[in-house]
Amino acid sequence: MDETLARNCEIKKYICKAFAEEEEDVRFARENSLARGLKEIQVPSNVGKLIYLLAKLRAPKRALEIGTLGGYSTLWLAKALPQNGRLISLEFEAKHAAIAKEHIVKAGFSAQVEIRIGKAADLLSSMIASKEEPFDLIFIDADKENYPKYLDLAYSLSTSGTLILSDNLIPKGEKIDDPHPNNEEACSIYHFNKLLSLHPKIESIITTNIVGEKGRLDGLGISLVT
Ligand code: SAH
Ligand code: DHB
Ligand code: MG
Repeated sequence: MDETLARNCEIKKYICKAFAEEEEDVRFARENSLARGLKEIQVPSNVGKLIYLLAKLRAPKRALEIGTLGGYSTLWLAKALPQNGRLISLEFEAKHAAIAKEHIVKAGFSAQVEIRIGKAADLLSSMIASKEEPFDLIFIDADKENYPKYLDLAYSLSTSGTLILSDNLIPKGEKIDDPHPNNEEACSIYHFNKLLSLHPKIESIITTNIVGEKGRLDGLGISLVT
């Protein structure tokens, strides 16, 4: 590992310890998800704290998450909701949803957080068709191949002032903004980034954050619907 990556590891540890300590229920959700066989692909706690703080600033009455996994990021977001705030989280895998539900109940958020099971694109389309109220905050973190579609659907469920957060905007191991054509995920993400950066009604930035144990940088998109 080169010197910069080693230093990044130290910086990440420092930030997580000093600023992003997990509360007991959040730590349990992470550890129990791993114990129950889920992949360890939840946001790191430094990113969890960042989306929590951004959500707190936005104080959403209606928040939406695309990609629940074991409910780790769901809990960070739930903790930022105002009293009358609600969070809907979409998950394709029934097993993931069931484990996440346990974590949400255990943390005392079952009245505020609802998990919907199905393909996110289908669930979002039916929300649009049934004219559900727009969301104040949307966190995109599911299958990367569908990110461009999710942006379109998320925008349809947005209003002026909606905060859209998008995880994993810097794919690993690829030339920046020039991924190998065989890497569908990376191609889709860079396409998404282009759509985001050029969108006439959305103002955005990618913030880089140190993720994983090797000092790698990933990107979190922060976008405001104007
Ligand atoms: N937000 C979580 C991590 C989500 S990982 C956290 O940080 O804690 C991505 C999740 O999206 C996985 O649980 C996966 O099953 C789910 N997923 C993948 N494709 C999906 C789809 N088409 N619709 C809904 N969920 C999907
Ligand atoms: C991975 C990380 C993520 O944050 C995600 O949403 C999906 C996959 C990964 O490291 O493979
Ligand atoms: Mg992610």
